[in-house]
Amino acid sequence: MDRRVLIIDDDPSLLALLRAELESRSYEITTRTSAEEGLQALAEQDFGVVLSDLTMQKMSGVELCREVVTLREDTPVIVITAHASIESAVAAIRAGAYDFVTKPFDADDLGLTIERALRHRELREEVKRLRRAVGEQQPFDEMVGESAPMKKMFQVVARAADSVATVLVTGESGTGKELVARAVHARSPRASGPFVAINCAAMPESLLESELFGHVKGAFTDARAARPGLFSKAGGGTLFLDEIAEMPLGMQAKLLRALQERTVRPVGGDAEVPFDARIVAATNRDLDREVQEKRFREDLFYRINVVRVEVPPLRDRENDVLILAQSFLEHARSSGRSRVIGLKSAAAERLASYPWPGNVRELQNCIERAVALAEFDHIGVDDLPERVRQYQPATVPSQSTDVATLLPMEEVERRYVEQVLHAVGRNKAFAARVLGMDRRTLYRKLERWAHHGATTSRNRAWQGDHEEDGVAGAHL
Ligand SMILES: Nc1ncnc2c1ncn2[C@@H]1O[C@H](COP(=O)(O)OP(=O)(O)OP(=O)(O)O)[C@@H](O)[C@H]1O
Ligand SMILES: [Mg+2]
Repeated sequence: MDRRVLIIDDDPSLLALLRAELESRSYEITTRTSAEEGLQALAEQDFGVVLSDLTMQKMSGVELCREVVTLREDTPVIVITAHASIESAVAAIRAGAYDFVTKPFDADDLGLTIERALRHRELREEVKRLRRAVGEQQPFDEMVGESAPMKKMFQVVARAADSVATVLVTGESGTGKELVARAVHARSPRASGPFVAINCAAMPESLLESELFGHVKGAFTDARAARPGLFSKAGGGTLFLDEIAEMPLGMQAKLLRALQERTVRPVGGDAEVPFDARIVAATNRDLDREVQEKRFREDLFYRINVVRVEVPPLRDRENDVLILAQSFLEHARSSGRSRVIGLKSAAAERLASYPWPGNVRELQNCIERAVALAEFDHIGVDDLPERVRQYQPATVPSQSTDVATLLPMEEVERRYVEQVLHAVGRNKAFAARVLGMDRRTLYRKLERWAHHGATTSRNRAWQGDHEEDGVAGAHL
């Protein structure tokens, strides 16, 4: 049991009294005389329980409770109140306080309340730990994927989660970078701490700085009270910096400093506040290139690129397209939004051959739409968006009339088969269906092409002829 108790009260004689009483019960006591200082202490380290006066100058105990809930969700707060102000004690409970004690207090009562708060906290943490253990038996159930590149990525994610290093998640738009960031957090020892996300592209530099680092009271016109930043709020957990490549260069310098020093300086203040957050960053840009073109600081790049998770584009994930489609269908069905249970094979073929430039997000939208349109319990080609329905893979036989570039039939066949295989994620049974070919026939052809390099011998002979004769198509 964590026996560290933080006591916040602006009355030094009461603090001394409480300290003596609780130290005699073998608690480890830290005291602060204002809510602001109390929050600061909480941002720096964890306490088993917080004991706070309800009526203080500047920030009240009720406001304090609200801040503690966002800063350290698991830390119970017990408020101390005079008999006369039970109403505000109730307000504190609504704001997230665990319990209250009334002044003048009975030392045994206070001791019991603290013990109960600590036990409550332990139980909560135990429940979270168990949930995590159960979750671990179904690895990545929130991320669907069985293809080789995804399995490889899951391994990297698991390793990243175990380490304390900064993680950089890269990948095209819609590939699932945010899900990966959440998975890194959920599988890390910090899983019971907060996951705090911020989109660096969504804010001007001045706002971003106070969001990330917090500000002191009076730092700017609206800053009526001090506010901790996201680095502090993510204490004990993970801070997710999404779209980090969009961060303005000035802010990049400040971020680099924070990461190097492991402290932040709230806007308007000059004190350095240590933080205890694990950093995960994501971008869909090519950061190496951003560095080359001086839009991203090289030193910051090295700081954040400690462990790299590359999320593969959907077109490289073999059969995952159909597995994902099915899981989105089931999701819609179990949430009562549809009765659709599957895909008609023609629709499945279109999904499998479409290259999905918008990746998983585009597929998800496509399925949501199809589910809404579908008249039957299987999605048909007509339920798919036009771009998917109309998509024609670049046809192999060229439109050329230059005889020299025309291909023998078997080479056309080999290339087309290759294209279909690629489109269906190298699932041969599926490819055979698309090609309207017996599965064994396909296997035989592949076998032959693998051993004899397709029709290369004929190609070579043909080319040889062509060169000798110096006349295009002379062999015809
Ligand atoms: N492997 C997956 N399994 C299930 N759902 C997924 C998977 N990958 C992504 N998704 C879903 O696809 C959508 C897009 O994912 P996410 O927002 O994580 O992508 P992103 O890479 O962050 O995109 P962007 O670059 O546009 O920010 C989300 O709704 C997410 O739940
Ligand atoms: Mg994203």
